Amino acid sequence: MSLLLCLVAGAVSFYVILYYGVFRGARYSSSVKLKGKTAIVTGSNTGIGKATALDLARRGARVILACRNKEKAETAAYDIRRETGNNQVVFMQLDLASLKSVRSFAENFLKTEPRLDLLINNAGVMGPGQTEDGFGMAFGVNHLGHFLLTNLLLERLQKCGPSRVVNVSALLHRLGSIDFPLLASKKDLVSGQSTWHNFQAYSSSKLCNVLFTRELANRLEGTSVTCYSLHPGVIYTELCRSMSLWQQLLLSPFAKLFFLDPEGGSQTTLHCALQEGIEPLSGRYFSSCALQQVGTRGRDDALAKKLWEVSERLTGL
Ligand SMILES: NC(=O)c1ccc[n+]([C@@H]2O[C@H](COP(=O)([O-])OP(=O)(O)OC[C@H]3O[C@@H](n4cnc5c(N)ncnc54)[C@H](OP(=O)(O)O)[C@@H]3O)[C@@H](O)[C@H]2O)c1
Repeated sequence: MSLLLCLVAGAVSFYVILYYGVFRGARYSSSVKLKGKTAIVTGSNTGIGKATALDLARRGARVILACRNKEKAETAAYDIRRETGNNQVVFMQLDLASLKSVRSFAENFLKTEPRLDLLINNAGVMGPGQTEDGFGMAFGVNHLGHFLLTNLLLERLQKCGPSRVVNVSALLHRLGSIDFPLLASKKDLVSGQSTWHNFQAYSSSKLCNVLFTRELANRLEGTSVTCYSLHPGVIYTELCRSMSLWQQLLLSPFAKLFFLDPEGGSQTTLHCALQEGIEPLSGRYFSSCALQQVGTRGRDDALAKKLWEVSERLTGL
C-alpha cells in the first residue's frame, strides 16, 4: 500500500515538475487597448491564430481573419464577434499556398482597409504536398507566402507606424537547415515526402521564419516598423492533422496531459505584438513572453540575406 502511495506521489510530482518546468509558458498580462487599430492574423480560423484574433478583438481592434477556408473562417469570425461583442472581425480570403492568392489578398486589403498596425504571420502547416506554384508545402506556406504577403503590405505598415510584424516560428527551427542548390532544383528544402522529410521541411521552414525576421529588421532599421519571431510553446491544436491515425492516437494522451491550449499558445504572440518598449529588440526571437537565443543557423546574417534574395526571386518581387 505504502509502495503504491509512493509511486502515485512520485508520478504526480514528476507530472507537476514536467508541466510547470517545461510545458507551461508565461502569460501575457496587459490592459493595452486597440480601438482604431487594425490587425491581420493569418490562419486564424482555429488554433493559436484564432486565440490571438480573439484577444486582439477583445481589446477593440479591427481584426482581419486571413484564412483559406471561407466556411471555417466565417464560423470563427462569428464566434469571436459573439464572444467579444466586437463586430469589427471580418474574414478575407488568403491561401498562402498560392502566390496569386497572396497577391490578390494584398490588393483587396490595400484597396478596402485604410490602416494596418499589426501583421501576425501565424498560419502554418506540417505535412506533404506542393503549393500551387510547385514549392514544397511547408516552405511555400510557412515561409514564401508570408514573405510575399509582408513585403506587399510593408508600405501600409510604414504609413501607420509604429506598427509591428510578428512571425510565429517554432523551437524546431533549431533542427532546420537550408540547402539552396536543392531549393533551386526541387523547389523544396527536402528531397522526399516521408513523415521524416515532412518534419525536416517543417523545421527548416521555421528556420526561414527566424531568418526572415532577422533580415526584415535590418531592412526596417530607422523606420517605425519592428518585427519579431517566436516559439508559442507546445500546444494542442490541429497542426498534426496530417499524421496517421495511429500516430495521432499515440500522441493524444500525452498531448492532453502536457500540451497547452490555444489560448496559452497565443501569449508570446500577444507579447510580441503589444508589449511596450521592445522596439530595440526588433528582429529577435521570443519564447514564454521573453527574449530567447536562437539556434546557431538562426543567427547567421549571411544566410538570412541569401534567403531574402532567393525568396525575392522565387516570389517575383
Ligand atoms: N501547436 C504547436 O505546438 C506549435 C509549436 C510551435 C509552433 N507552432 C506554430 O504556430 C502556428 C499556428 O499553428 P497551430 O498550432 O495553431 O496549428 P493549426 O491549429 O493547424 O492552425 C494552423 C492554421 O494555419 C492555416 N493554414 C494552413 N495552411 C494554410 C494556407 N495554405 N493558407 C492559409 N492558411 C493556412 C490553417 O487553416 P485550415 O484550418 O484551413 O487548414 C489554420 O488556420 C504555426 O505557424 C505553427 O507552425 C505551433
